[in-house]
Amino acid sequence: MTVILVTGGASGIGAAVARRFAARGASVVIADLNPLGAAVAAEIGALFVPTDVSSPEANDDAVAAAVSAFGRLDIAHLNAGAGNGGTELDLDRYRRVMSVNLDGTVHGIRSALRAGVRSIVVTSSLAGISPATFDPVYAASKHALIGLVRSLQLPGVTLNAVCPGFVDTPMISAFRHELPAHGFAIATPDDVASAVEHIASGVDSNQVWEVQAGRPPTLVQFPAVELSRCEPVGR
Ligand SMILES: NC(=O)c1ccc[n+]([C@@H]2O[C@H](COP(=O)([O-])OP(=O)(O)OC[C@H]3O[C@@H](n4cnc5c(N)ncnc54)[C@H](O)[C@@H]3O)[C@@H](O)[C@H]2O)c1
Repeated sequence: MTVILVTGGASGIGAAVARRFAARGASVVIADLNPLGAAVAAEIGALFVPTDVSSPEANDDAVAAAVSAFGRLDIAHLNAGAGNGGTELDLDRYRRVMSVNLDGTVHGIRSALRAGVRSIVVTSSLAGISPATFDPVYAASKHALIGLVRSLQLPGVTLNAVCPGFVDTPMISAFRHELPAHGFAIATPDDVASAVEHIASGVDSNQVWEVQAGRPPTLVQFPAVELSRCEPVGR
């Protein structure tokens, strides 16, 4: 039976991933700051571990709880995230966004690797592969995740990113009502969960997947940039 840890699993995309894997018979561990994670866990027979992903020790504790309860860890969906909520470069908010979105993912990878995880899926965003002028700090944190996922080589472990467009979760509640009028489609959390299930079952690593409403998950193609080289010595 698969054992999966889902950070940010109390709500939105993470809760949908937790529900989807539980429905498949997986053992699910929800790691989240939000105490509502206990209710989601109770609903699906999962384990809830109160966790602030910005703390390395808290990530270790969540992974240790998974291994203690279920014997091992197969998949980590590192999904907890936060927005900056605007265009200001307020230092406290900048550090908070980075500590959750980037530090939290790095800590989660380190903790999961120590437990022998075989697949890691990171939730980035379309804001990680294109500009997001409504929240540049959020965009910076999500772009950083793409650099990490494309660069970090983990022998025997797959590491991939999912980049959703707008998804119907509490994260977009402040402006959700404006999106249809601007012509933007909104995916369901389970659309993303389905993509996460697909990505986690694959054998390829360092890939980035775009997930948007009404479209199948698509591999993101990046331009091949060649480093310039010196003229051969002696010419
Ligand atoms: N909703 C969207 O349109 C959208 C689009 C692209 C990417 N995303 C990303 O998807 C992920 C999930 O967000 P969502 O849309 O489901 O929103 P959400 O607000 O429903 O869920 C985010 C979860 O992360 C948890 N969280 C926040 N900080 C945490 C911390 N320090 N430690 C542990 N848990 C923490 C929250 O408590 C919450 O349960 C985030 O990484 C977000 O950036 C969302």
